[in-house]
Amino acid sequence: MAPLGFFDRFTNDDKFSTLRCIIDNIKRLGVDEFGSIMLKVFEYASEMKLKGDYLEFGCFGGYTMTWAYKAAKAFGMKDIKFYGFDSFEGLPEIKGVDAEYPEFKGGEFCSTEKQFYKDLKRGGVDISRVVTIPGWYDGTLSDELSERLAVKEAAVILVDCDLYCSTVPVLEFITKYIADGTVILFDDWNCFRSSPEHGEQRAVREWLERYKDITMTKYLPFEAFGQSFIAHRKS
Ligand SMILES: C[S@@+](CC[C@H](N)C(=O)[O-])C[C@H]1O[C@@H](n2cnc3c(N)ncnc32)[C@H](O)[C@@H]1O
Repeated sequence: MAPLGFFDRFTNDDKFSTLRCIIDNIKRLGVDEFGSIMLKVFEYASEMKLKGDYLEFGCFGGYTMTWAYKAAKAFGMKDIKFYGFDSFEGLPEIKGVDAEYPEFKGGEFCSTEKQFYKDLKRGGVDISRVVTIPGWYDGTLSDELSERLAVKEAAVILVDCDLYCSTVPVLEFITKYIADGTVILFDDWNCFRSSPEHGEQRAVREWLERYKDITMTKYLPFEAFGQSFIAHRKS
């Protein structure tokens, strides 16, 4: 990667205003690789005038949600709300196809909702814009919950719950919130040695087979395991 100073020569030109905005944010926020992907994703969401909220499945230490918040703020998305779904008890018991690789352990990433809010506050997040839904996905992610939540559609969704068995109910739940252009980031896309028969890749393939009106365009890869997509919906 070029040193930041390399880009300074471009930054007085109006044609490069978006680049300048990103560089300013990088300098101001001290961005790491995940922060940089969130800035790109929220730049896209803001430029495309996506309506809707941020939904995160797998919250744990608040790291990813803090970046989502900072990136939305950097692009002036003031109305967006941040919804976090997590057991706050870590991963469920590992079984079925998830147990075919020794990658994850039940109870791993155990935290508490209280600690999550503490972490967000420490990261400078305005927690009045955050809503958490604690519990196991196969119990909480229901039609009844959708009726209770004020979400109409999603601008950005982060799926960071590691396992096939966790991703299946998440995808079923988010189906109704997919708009044309919604960004979905899968943090664990290349886990399980990137096997198409495991993890998020398998869950997504089966989901798209069920919902033929939804298609996805490959978008930005991130970190060692992540892959993002832009979803489309035939009306
Ligand atoms: C890798 S951690 C998420 C890390 C988080 N994004 C961060 O920034 O710290 C995975 C999270 O998914 C949650 N999770 C996984 N499967 C779940 C399920 N079936 N129901 C509820 N939460 C689940 C775990 O509790 C854990 O907090």
